[in-house]
Amino acid sequence: MTRLPSHSRFVSLEGGEGAGKTTVLDALRDALRSSGDDVVCTREPGGTPLAEMIRDLLLDPDHEPPAAETELLLMFAARAQHVRETIRPALERGAWVLCDRFTDSSYAYQGGGRGLDAGFIAALERHAVGLQPGLTLLLDIDVDRIERERDDFFERVRAGYRARAAAEPDRFRVIDAAQAADAVAAEAVRQLQAWRARA
Ligand SMILES: Nc1ncnc2c1ncn2[C@@H]1O[C@H](COP(=O)(O)OP(=O)(O)OP(=O)(O)O)[C@@H](O)[C@H]1O
Ligand SMILES: [Mg+2]
Repeated sequence: MTRLPSHSRFVSLEGGEGAGKTTVLDALRDALRSSGDDVVCTREPGGTPLAEMIRDLLLDPDHEPPAAETELLLMFAARAQHVRETIRPALERGAWVLCDRFTDSSYAYQGGGRGLDAGFIAALERHAVGLQPGLTLLLDIDVDRIERERDDFFERVRAGYRARAAAEPDRFRVIDAAQAADAVAAEAVRQLQAWRARA
C-alpha cells in the first residue's frame, strides 16, 4: 500500500505509559522555541474540545470498559477532529506540531495490544486521518517485570511499536528510554535538530 502523505514539521512522540513522552516533548518544544520556531504542542486522544470530550469518555471509570472496536473507533473519531481542527491549521500557518501520541499508538495498543486487524486500522488511518508525522520518536523501554507477569498486553504493545519502527525506518528514531531523563531528552533534541537541518 502506498504511504500516506507526511509533513516534515509534524513530529510525534510514542512509547508506553510513563516512558517519558511528556518530558521529552517539553524539551523539544524548548529547543524549537529557542531557535525562534512557532510550536504547537498537543496530545492524543485529545487536542480539540470535542476530542478531549472523547478522551474523557474513554477514560471514564463509571461505565463498562469499552470493547476493543469501540476504543479504536473513538480514538479515530478524536484523531479525525484533531487533524482537521488543530494539526493541519498549525502546519499550514508554518508552525511545528509536537504531538504526544498519534496513529502509531492505535497500531501498538488496539492492534498489537488488543489484537485488532492492522488492515482495518490502516483503512481508518487512510480515510479519517490522511496524514503522517514526518518524524516519530519512539521511547522504547523494557516492560516492567510486574506488568509482564500480570499480562503480556504491554509486551505486545511494545512489540507493536517496534514492528512499526522497523517497517518505517526513515520516519522513526528509536530512543532507549531506560537512560536518565536528561540523556533521553538530549538524544531526542539531537534527533529533532538533525531532522530540522535536513527538512
Ligand atoms: N528517562 C527517565 N528516567 C527516569 N524517570 C523518568 C525518565 N523520563 C521521565 N521520567 C519520570 O517518569 C515519569 C513519567 O514521565 P512522563 O510523564 O514524561 O512519561 P509519559 O510517557 O508522558 O507518561 P504517560 O503515558 O503517563 O503520559 C515522570 O515522573 C518523569 O519525571
Ligand atoms: Mg505523558
